[in-house]
Amino acid sequence: MLSQVLGNLNKFSTKDTLIDYESFDDAAAYNLNNETILQTVDFFTPIVDDPYDFGRIAAANSLSDIYAMGGKPLFALNIVAFPVDDLPLSVLTDILRGGSDVASEAGIPILGGHSIKDKEPKYGLVVTGTPFKTPIKNSTAQPGDVIILTKPLGLGIISTAIKKDIADKNMIDEAVNIMTYLNKDASEAMISTGVNACTDITGYGLLGHLLEMCKGSKLSANINFDSIKFIDGSKELAAKGIVPGGTKRNYDFIKENISFSNDLEMYQKYLLADAQTSGGLLISIPKEKLDELNSKLSGAKYECVKIGNFEPLESNPYIKVS
Ligand code: CO
Ligand code: CO
Ligand code: CO
Repeated sequence: MLSQVLGNLNKFSTKDTLIDYESFDDAAAYNLNNETILQTVDFFTPIVDDPYDFGRIAAANSLSDIYAMGGKPLFALNIVAFPVDDLPLSVLTDILRGGSDVASEAGIPILGGHSIKDKEPKYGLVVTGTPFKTPIKNSTAQPGDVIILTKPLGLGIISTAIKKDIADKNMIDEAVNIMTYLNKDASEAMISTGVNACTDITGYGLLGHLLEMCKGSKLSANINFDSIKFIDGSKELAAKGIVPGGTKRNYDFIKENISFSNDLEMYQKYLLADAQTSGGLLISIPKEKLDELNSKLSGAKYECVKIGNFEPLESNPYIKVS
């Protein structure tokens, strides 16, 4: 939304701007006294009922953009909207405690923030970081690279089931575990191995983020539906029509750029377009480095799977799904 509007404005830039919104990357990069700093901001309305879990999810999601850029977070600021007349302050305390616990897990302090009174609670972080080496962009994938995904999909579908009160406890717990799991270890593994490109999967879904990588890198991608992991129960929910509006909009927005194998059903296409919150990293790595990355990721909580590869771009469609 923002990038569509920003495109109409006169842009002011300085020589120290390294990465801005035009490349649809995860964080901005700026040269400060010959050091690169990364900065990102994200906030949203509650997607789970428990305020503490909401705080943890929002913080992990905000931190993720720094990890996706191959960065080390340094410090954060809280962004808060809260209906102070309608909800007890203890709810806000729980949200902020969740954010603070996840920031501590990431090894960073929250140094301040800003709050406003609003009808619906909203929470997130501004995170400042620095790349370990150089920023890992989303637009530098190479032909022949293997595409790795580090968390299962289906979070948007399960969030919708939670809103409709039809998600069971195991499913909710699993979704919360995934959304609060930091992309820190996956990021450190990819930095030390050396990869060509990375982004994290959030609201635009796997297909949307993959499409940005394809367009930015001027490549096409082949992915295989069966190789992708989905959270237990999410396929069944999607097959029953439990699909968020955002996921359907994602699909409509990108479908021209994708060719799906004929045996894929509509609900399977929606699963691939599903809007995620605090999803995994989507990594583009040279084939010969895959074993090294896999061995570094072997202890990860969620299986990191190879979902496809990049190829030279012949013509649209950018993405082929088999
Ligand atoms: Co991102
Ligand atoms: Co973001
Ligand atoms: Co202020």
